Amino acid sequence: MMENGLNWRNRELRQHVKVVDGLEAPTLVLSNATYLNVYTKQWLEANIWIFDERIVYVGAKLPDDLANIEVVDCTGKYLVPGYIEPHSHPFQLSNPEDIALHAAKFGTTTLINDNLTWNFLLDKKKAFSILDEFRKLPVSMYWWARFDSQTALQDEEQYFNTPDVLSWLSHPSVVQGGELTGWPSLLDGNDRLLYWIQEAKRLGKPVEGHLPGASVKTLTKMKLLGVSADHESMTGEEVMNRLQMGYSVGLRYSSIRPDLPKLIEEILEAGLESFDNLTMTMDGPPPEFMKDGIMNVCLEIAIEKGIPLEEAYRMASYNAARHLHLDEQIGSIAPGRIAHINILKEKSNPHPESVLAKGQWVVKNSEHQVYESIIDWKQFNIGPMEFDWHLDEGDLQFSAPVGMEMVNNVIVKPYTIDTDISVEDLSATNGDQFLLLLDKKGKWRVNTAIRGFAPKLGALASTFSASGDLIFIGKNKKDILLSWKRLKEIGGGIVLVHEGKVLVEIPLDLGGTMSEIKIDTLISKERKLKEYLKGFGYVFNDPVYSLLFLSAIHLPFIRVTQQGLMDVKNREILFPATMR
Ligand SMILES: [Fe+2]
Repeated sequence: MMENGLNWRNRELRQHVKVVDGLEAPTLVLSNATYLNVYTKQWLEANIWIFDERIVYVGAKLPDDLANIEVVDCTGKYLVPGYIEPHSHPFQLSNPEDIALHAAKFGTTTLINDNLTWNFLLDKKKAFSILDEFRKLPVSMYWWARFDSQTALQDEEQYFNTPDVLSWLSHPSVVQGGELTGWPSLLDGNDRLLYWIQEAKRLGKPVEGHLPGASVKTLTKMKLLGVSADHESMTGEEVMNRLQMGYSVGLRYSSIRPDLPKLIEEILEAGLESFDNLTMTMDGPPPEFMKDGIMNVCLEIAIEKGIPLEEAYRMASYNAARHLHLDEQIGSIAPGRIAHINILKEKSNPHPESVLAKGQWVVKNSEHQVYESIIDWKQFNIGPMEFDWHLDEGDLQFSAPVGMEMVNNVIVKPYTIDTDISVEDLSATNGDQFLLLLDKKGKWRVNTAIRGFAPKLGALASTFSASGDLIFIGKNKKDILLSWKRLKEIGGGIVLVHEGKVLVEIPLDLGGTMSEIKIDTLISKERKLKEYLKGFGYVFNDPVYSLLFLSAIHLPFIRVTQQGLMDVKNREILFPATMR
């Protein structure tokens, strides 16, 4: 069994050569194809021979004997490499297996994935064995090695220590370090972080930055310290600055930062003619944003905004592969590569009619092929959350002087709580709601208030959070207690309660952050959740990310964390967590 294309056995390699010599038959031939050669940027005519999961020949010849070979005539069609999503967080309500198979239906056959959730849910041995399972999917699944949790944990060292980080970096399915949300500490002199970056580079693996709003000076310093790529540009000028310094730049089209159209307009206006160091990413949005696919959607925008076709397809495939030193395995239609191929009706229509992933049909003539789930979550002890403790009235004591006020989906600023929040119900106040972050093991809690979430809502309970702890938001304590009761019954998820009634729930039966429910059902549940929240006064568009990032210290200005309420810029705890 190949390891993401890195190590076919000698016997298999000899067999592939025999196919070219006509001594063995290919398993599939795509005949009369017009394909994009990403190396010469030309559309060429060829017959493409595939043996199991590998492309073995691209050229004018056909096998002498076509009997017993699947031959698909591609006359009039256009073939491009399977698309690569270079920056995926495949844990937002759905799970990585479902997301991968969903992505593949739309032509994205490789995902480069965040490993953070494995850090929280699994020990290293189990995590590496789940990576092995993911190699069996038709989609190529590669992973990052994170250097920090992007929140303030009470025991960060347990998750991020040198031996563990180094073994993650050395793993063959891990292709980059980062994303580096903890870069302020790197600039402040964190030499351990610098050591990890250098080790990643020594292993030939690039380091993904996370540098929103960084000045030219900061970008320069981060380059000196070894950061290779960044996907946080919000203007064309920021893209150009990064390109000029030799960064690989991800143009983002995410639920909270759908900047791609504007970025393309601005880089074209700035006269950019070389697109070799550009990629595109959806940056791990919740399911609804991916309903029509991933890179095919980005490609449609890129093409519509005037990126030359050959360059657009390279941005969605080869450029990412080359940056990650995976170009001998994926990202092109050429001998030796894994057979990830999209068949298009028109050159300018990036939504494939057929998708081949590791030589298997995921979509054939617009028909999705049935694919059984192979990840056995129970084997990894990933299942519903169990709570051997209770939440009661005593935990709902609120007297904090400072609360959190939402500025947009994910930015939160501090505010002085000037109303009495020691009451049972906050309906009479100026939009304040109780906010409680509770340890998943029930050992500690942080009580404060929030403004601007969904001010009229009774209660929301969620195990979906940056650290896996529980979030409660609401104006009514009885509703909060009911939301807890229901959350406990379903073993984790997101539960919305109002005036004593459960209105909607999304069970997250895989560790409280992911669901086994199929992605199409999740999309409609997410939509329902948003509709209800909007009805209760939520004015932004991505509540899933609002919940995730309430504890995320890579964003301004104030966050509720395991350590307490934190002023992010000064890394100062305004008031600490209370032990229960
Ligand atoms: Fe990201």
